[in-house]
Amino acid sequence: VGHIDDVQELRRTKPKTVPQRFVRDMTERPTLQTSLSAQNSDMPVIDFSKLSKGSKEDLLNELCKLSVACQEWGFFQVINHEVDINLMENIEDMSKEFFMLPLEEKQKYPMAPGTVQGYGQAFVFSEDQKLDWCNMFALGIAPLYVRDPNLWPKKPAKLSETIELYSRKIKKLCQNLLRYIALGLSLEEDVFEEMFGEAVQAIRMNYYPTCSRPDLVLGLSPHSDGSALTVLQQAKGSPVGLQILKDSRWVPVQPIPNALVINIGDTIEVLTNGKYKSVEHRAVAHEEKDRLSIVTFYAPSYEVELGPMQEFVDENHPCKYRRYNHGEYSKHYVTNKLQGKRTLDFAK
Ligand code: SIN
Ligand code: FE2
Repeated sequence: VGHIDDVQELRRTKPKTVPQRFVRDMTERPTLQTSLSAQNSDMPVIDFSKLSKGSKEDLLNELCKLSVACQEWGFFQVINHEVDINLMENIEDMSKEFFMLPLEEKQKYPMAPGTVQGYGQAFVFSEDQKLDWCNMFALGIAPLYVRDPNLWPKKPAKLSETIELYSRKIKKLCQNLLRYIALGLSLEEDVFEEMFGEAVQAIRMNYYPTCSRPDLVLGLSPHSDGSALTVLQQAKGSPVGLQILKDSRWVPVQPIPNALVINIGDTIEVLTNGKYKSVEHRAVAHEEKDRLSIVTFYAPSYEVELGPMQEFVDENHPCKYRRYNHGEYSKHYVTNKLQGKRTLDFAK
């Protein structure tokens, strides 16, 4: 990505028109099929404290809500999640500071093609591919071998240690959520933890500068996530930007202050043979407000072999996916453009 494709730099020049490279074909434009009627209240909200320290009855109720959310939405927001609010604010503030640094500073951490680590635009493979109205900064977190220490930012001074701390808390949340997801599926609670081995964790900050023509561009192309679980933090004051595809309509996700948005990724869809859905989503740009999201991907270890679990396959539910190696899947995911649920075709 050169100077001209860096959305923030482009934005600085206040162009009267959006460069063609960002203008979407008619069928992809965000104005189409957006559900205006959908309210925030539609997307399930899970109260984590009812799972972790509620009565037996609270637990059963919340597990039931969780299961419905994973089947019908593939998404939910979680409140009372035990991730410290100050920590969330810190990582937001520092990430914003990072994105505001001069381009030369950010380009000290260039994203290599075919990887999703460093600063730049991931998932771009051809000259004629449309670009997303977004700048990204991504890092592999765990296990240690996925880290590239040269890409950990030196500025702002405390960003790297904040990412480290934040990632530990988010890991804990993912482990807990996976236990409740297992219980909601009537599985042994540690089934995913045991299956996943040393989980792979990555973080990505998405910064969406304002855009004079948000009707022509996409902040982030439609895709499903290649993870098992994804945890998304929408920075305070951000406009609505995330939309999820539900019943063929794009439903905007209204941020709930201090909540985290969780979604089911391809791994869980495969393991449950499609019972739990890895739902397609995208982000749109905004005319007046920039937007920052901080996303954690939590996935099995690369050597794990995945496929539908026998519990979800019977004469009424024929096996929808083959067995495959998760490392190969991840490689496939990061070396292809984001294109709806296409990456899951790898598992067919
Ligand atoms: C994502 O899907 O990775 C991010 C979407 C968002 O910024 O809300
Ligand atoms: Fe995503």
